[in-house]
Amino acid sequence: MQVELKRAKLYHIKSMQELVKNEVESGLILARSADEMATSIRAYTLAFIGNTLVGFVSLHIYSQNLAEVRSLVVSKDYRKKGLGKKLIESCKEEAKELEIKTLLSLTYQKKLFENLGFIEISKKDLPEHKVWADCSRCKHFPICDEIALIYKIVDKIK
Ligand SMILES: CC(C)(COP(=O)(O)OP(=O)(O)OC[C@H]1O[C@@H](n2cnc3c(N)ncnc32)[C@H](O)[C@@H]1OP(=O)(O)O)[C@@H](O)C(=O)NCCC(=O)NCCS
Repeated sequence: MQVELKRAKLYHIKSMQELVKNEVESGLILARSADEMATSIRAYTLAFIGNTLVGFVSLHIYSQNLAEVRSLVVSKDYRKKGLGKKLIESCKEEAKELEIKTLLSLTYQKKLFENLGFIEISKKDLPEHKVWADCSRCKHFPICDEIALIYKIVDKIK
């Protein structure tokens, strides 16, 4: 299975929205309009097998210290093959290049992130208030059972 990671282009937005439709409907992933996705198109990394879009992730930078791995999704037929891991690893690589100190994930997929070196923290300890700006748009707001995990990049920068 040859997986290729590519930067997103604006013309990918429609297929990205199609891929994530079920997860948005079930409230696993926050709905984002095409225009909102366009404004942050440079943050997305897409996974392709041949010409088929099979997953994507976004690395959203909040500050000099903090970025979030968000909107992670892999198409149902391609799960449990290591694609999610590959996409998260690509965020780690990019964060390292940019010298971002901490990566954050707010997720229900605790084990997946822990296996990649993320550590659970209390949501009370989240480093920046602006992380919560999206919450009022979430289907689960105000009862949030997502888990917060962080990955310290700074330790890995030589
Ligand atoms: C979460 C999600 C992105 C994971 O994608 P994925 O491609 O299945 O991820 P991976 O294959 O890298 O890992 C998933 C599991 O499969 C296991 N796995 C990986 N390759 C495997 C293989 N060849 N055979 C069997 N299991 C395998 C991994 O160890 C991992 O197990 P764990 O969750 O117990 O740690 C995907 O399930 C998804 O899109 N879910 C809906 C949206 C969502 O919840 N997004 C997260 C928001 S942060």
